Amino acid sequence: MTSPDPSLALALRDALAAADYTVDVVDTLLGETARAALQRSETTPALRRTTDGSPLATLVRLFLLQAPVTRPEADRAVAGLVEDLAGAGLLAASGGEVRALLDCRPYADDDHDWWVVSDLTPGLDGQPLRVGRDHVLGVTPASTSLTQLTTRRAVPRALDLGTGCGVQSLHLVRHADHVVATDVNPRALTMAAWNAALNRIEIDLRDGSLWEPVAGETFDVIASNPPFVISPATGDRLVYRDSGLPGDRVVETIVREAPGHLNDGGWCHVVASWAIRRDLPWGERVGGWLADDCDALVVQREVLDPPAYVELWLKDAGRHGGPGYAEAYDAWLRWFDDQGIEALGFGWINLRKAGSAVEGARELFDHPYAVEQPIASEIEAWATAQHVTVEDSTRLSLRVDVVQETYGEPGAEHPETIVLRQRRGLCRARQVDTVEAALAGASDGELTVGQILDALAQLLDRDRDELSAAYLPAVRSLVREGFLSVGATTL
Ligand SMILES: C[S@@+](CC[C@H](N)C(=O)[O-])C[C@H]1O[C@@H](n2cnc3c(N)ncnc32)[C@H](O)[C@@H]1O
Repeated sequence: MTSPDPSLALALRDALAAADYTVDVVDTLLGETARAALQRSETTPALRRTTDGSPLATLVRLFLLQAPVTRPEADRAVAGLVEDLAGAGLLAASGGEVRALLDCRPYADDDHDWWVVSDLTPGLDGQPLRVGRDHVLGVTPASTSLTQLTTRRAVPRALDLGTGCGVQSLHLVRHADHVVATDVNPRALTMAAWNAALNRIEIDLRDGSLWEPVAGETFDVIASNPPFVISPATGDRLVYRDSGLPGDRVVETIVREAPGHLNDGGWCHVVASWAIRRDLPWGERVGGWLADDCDALVVQREVLDPPAYVELWLKDAGRHGGPGYAEAYDAWLRWFDDQGIEALGFGWINLRKAGSAVEGARELFDHPYAVEQPIASEIEAWATAQHVTVEDSTRLSLRVDVVQETYGEPGAEHPETIVLRQRRGLCRARQVDTVEAALAGASDGELTVGQILDALAQLLDRDRDELSAAYLPAVRSLVREGFLSVGATTL
């Protein structure tokens, strides 16, 4: 693929727009069943729904289904552009047929529509999954996880570290004045340049590894979905997933060095995988990478055992059932054993530079449950809550989405278990006792914590100081976990 010719990119954009090649319209054209089949990499149902030769159907067949279309169909879909797009490496035209050499598909969030060029999805209709070492992914579930984590506050400068096709930058330019995007894969930088041109945005693209292309520079937002697969770093390397560094060193390096590239109040969001060692809880190990001057919220979303992890990534590389599969599987497991790795964690690392005068707060926790997406504003609220001072004079309110669940014998006077559950945001649940439940329930934004404790001391006939000593820490932790917030009722 060649660097984008801006006028060709704009002409392609016009053709895609004229065909109504958007997420919603394509979804409607394909319908639920064909879409679900396509998710399973099967194109036949979608081919049956795209037979009318319209520009929209042609674009879907070309790019999403990787089917050849006739030259007249292609000429109708991208009028006058077939030769130029073939010259640029997006299409191949021969013998009256046109095929896609790259993927080009619509992409959207709640507020915006884009188009994204990437390498073709491998493995459609049972074809081999093999990809080249410099394969450039399109938008993946990990990309989407990161877009939903990333703060969308208006900022001067943002960094997309390991940009790939540039999907994070598409979002970042909407709220950052200047976006720097880096990658070590020249093909990725070319794709990102195409996507910038196609979507009429400007990105400062830079070639280089990790922090090297931005030495000495600081940012207000850093987003990274790095090549985080944990492997012995030997053999063939797929640059989109294998960093070439052993184990989880790539994530450690990003997390350790990010604070030096953040402005005060700036955020770094990373989707990552980490090794869980036999002799060390995961939180202690990842916690050891975190700087004191940053707030850090680390959420372990998934844990895989070593065989499940190795199978996942060998299959991703198309090696399942191929030559050397069993040997590669065995060698990878042996390496995990030698390293004392008993499981692999996957999750989110969020750092906020608190400033050198402020000690950063940190929370590392397992949370494999569904959350309300996008989660970015909840993560920002988490950081704010860590620095709230709660005293007797503080007025707190229970978040409106919190419900109380009680469990116990039917008809019993007292429940055995009380749980407070958030129905929005991180959707945390927390077991509480009756006093904590009463404190939370009475927090209406009007009464102070002291007034509620006074009333409870009287009601329960308990010493007021003892009650305060016992329950103020619980109230503070309810604030830090987002069940209670300062002032009037919010989300
Ligand atoms: C998993 S892909 C993520 C792409 C995209 N940012 C996203 O969110 O989908 C990881 C990207 O990191 C790039 N990469 C690999 N090693 C790198 C390194 N040492 N420094 C910077 N980028 C690297 C790969 O080429 C690839 O584009």
